[in-house]
Amino acid sequence: MKIAMIGTGYVGLVSGVCFAEFGFQVTCVDKNPAIIERLQAGEVTIYEPGLDELLVRNARDGRLIFTTDLVPTVADADVIFIAVGTPSRRGDGEADLQYIYAAADEIAAAMKPGAVIVIKSTVVVGTNADVRARIAKARPDVQFSMVSNPEFLREGSAVEDFLRPDRVVVGVHDEAGSAAMKRVYRPLYLRETPMIVTTLENAEIIKYAANAYLAMKVTFINEVADLCEKAGGNVQDVARAIGMDNRIGSKFLHAGPGFGGSCFPKDTRAYAATGRKLEAPQTLIEQVVTVNELRKHSMAQRVIEAAQKSGVTTVAVLGIAFKPNTDDIRESPALDIIPALQKAGLTVRAHDPEARGAAEQVLPEVTWYKSAYEAVEGAGITLLLTEWNVYRALDLKRVATLMSGNILFDLRNVYSGTDIEGTGLDYRSVGRPLVGKRG
Ligand code: NAD
Ligand code: UGA
Repeated sequence: MKIAMIGTGYVGLVSGVCFAEFGFQVTCVDKNPAIIERLQAGEVTIYEPGLDELLVRNARDGRLIFTTDLVPTVADADVIFIAVGTPSRRGDGEADLQYIYAAADEIAAAMKPGAVIVIKSTVVVGTNADVRARIAKARPDVQFSMVSNPEFLREGSAVEDFLRPDRVVVGVHDEAGSAAMKRVYRPLYLRETPMIVTTLENAEIIKYAANAYLAMKVTFINEVADLCEKAGGNVQDVARAIGMDNRIGSKFLHAGPGFGGSCFPKDTRAYAATGRKLEAPQTLIEQVVTVNELRKHSMAQRVIEAAQKSGVTTVAVLGIAFKPNTDDIRESPALDIIPALQKAGLTVRAHDPEARGAAEQVLPEVTWYKSAYEAVEGAGITLLLTEWNVYRALDLKRVATLMSGNILFDLRNVYSGTDIEGTGLDYRSVGRPLVGKRG
C-alpha cells in the first residue's frame, strides 16, 4: 500500500514517519521547499523526541521519501492523507479551511480511481462531506472514498502518542474507506488499540469535543487555583484529591499560566464559532476561551505589580515554548506575557532550550541567553513559564545569588516550599501559599 502525506508539519511529519515505521511506502509532500530540502538531507525540521531516529532509519531503508511534487505522488498513492494547517480565521475565530480546500483541489486533479482520501487535519463538522462533494464534482468519472481520521497526538510526546494511542477514530461513508483504514492501522489493531469506526460527522465532532473538554479541564483547575490563593488553599492538594475520583481523572489538572499551543486556543474558538453558526451555543467553551485569554493578562499583571512594588526593572523569563519538549511557540502564554512586561517598561532576558529560534522572530527587544543561569544574572524577578526538565532541578541558591532581586514566579508549580528553604528567594507559585523571604 502506498501512502501520500500532504503537509509535513507536526502532524504530517510524525504520521508519515510512523506509517513508514509500520512498513508502508510513504511519500511526504510539502509545498514549502525549505522544509523538504532539510528533510531530504535527513534533518528533522521540528523538535520532537524520538522522531529523528525513526526518520533517518525509514528514509535510509527506502520507505520514506520527501518531495514538493504533489501530482505524481498523489497519482501513485492508494491512501492520501491531508495534514495541512487549519488555523484560526482572523476576526471570527472560525477555522480557516483554505489550505484543506486547496489541497483537496490538487488531489482531485491527480488521484487515481479507487483512491482513499483521508483528512487528518482538525476540521469543523461538515468539512469532510463538503470536500467529498467538491472532489466528486471535479472528477465525476472517478470513484474514491472519503475518510475523516482526526489525530490526537500531543506535541512533545507525538511519536509515542502516535504509536500507542488510546484509540483511533475513523469516520467513513463507505466500506472501502473503512477497509483501507483497518489496513493502515493494522499494527495498532493487532496491539488491541480500540478503533472507533463512525460517520464523517461524528469523527469531526469527536476531535473538537475532546480538545474542548481538555481545555475546559485546564481552565477549571486554573480558576480553582485562583480560589485557593484567596482562601489559603493549595491547588495541587485539591487536584490530587479530586483526580482520584475515576469519574474526574488526574490528568490535565495542572494549574498554570493558561493553555497555549497550536490547537487548544484555535480549536476552542472554532468549536464555539461552530456552535454559534449552528445555533447550538457552546456556552461553556465560549467562557473557556474568554477566561483563558484573561488569565494570560492577569499573570503578566502579577509580575508587573511585583516589579513596581519592589523597584525591579529586569525580568528573566525561563521557557517560551507553550509546553516542554517542543520548539512550538504558537499561542504560547509567553507571547502575551512578555510584550505586556515590556509595555510596562520592564527589560526581558530569556532562555528556552529549543524555542529560541522561533521566538527571536516574534519577540523583539528580548536578550537571549544560552542557559537559565546566564538569563537570571542581574534580574530582579525570575519568571518560570515552561516546565522544561532543565528548569526542574535548578540550583536555586545559585539563582538567588546571580539575581539582583529575589522574586521567583513559578507559574508551573515546579518547586516546593522545601526547595525554596534557605535560598533567600521570595517564591510565588500558582494556587499555593507564598513561601520564602519577602521584600
Ligand atoms: P503545521 O502548520 O505545522 O504544518 C502544516 C504543513 O502543511 C506546513 O508545512 C505547510 O507548508 C503544509 N501545506 C499547506 N498546504 C499544503 C499543500 N497544499 N500541499 C502541501 N503542503 C501543504 O500544522 P500542524 O501543527 O501539523 O497541524 C496540522 C493539522 O493537524 C491542523 O488541523 C491541526 O489542528 C491538527 N492537529 C495538530 C496537532 C499538533 O500537535 N500540532 C495535533 C493534532 C491535530
Ligand atoms: C493537545 C491535545 O492534548 C492533543 O490530544 C491534541 O491532539 C492536540 O492538542 C491537537 O489537537 O493539536 P498539545 O497542544 O500538543 O495537545 O499539548 P497539551 O499537552 O494538551 O497542552 C496544551 C496546553 O495546555 C499547554 O499550554 C499546556 O501547558 C496546558 N496544560 C495542559 C496545562 O496548563 N495544564 C494541564 O494540566 C495540561
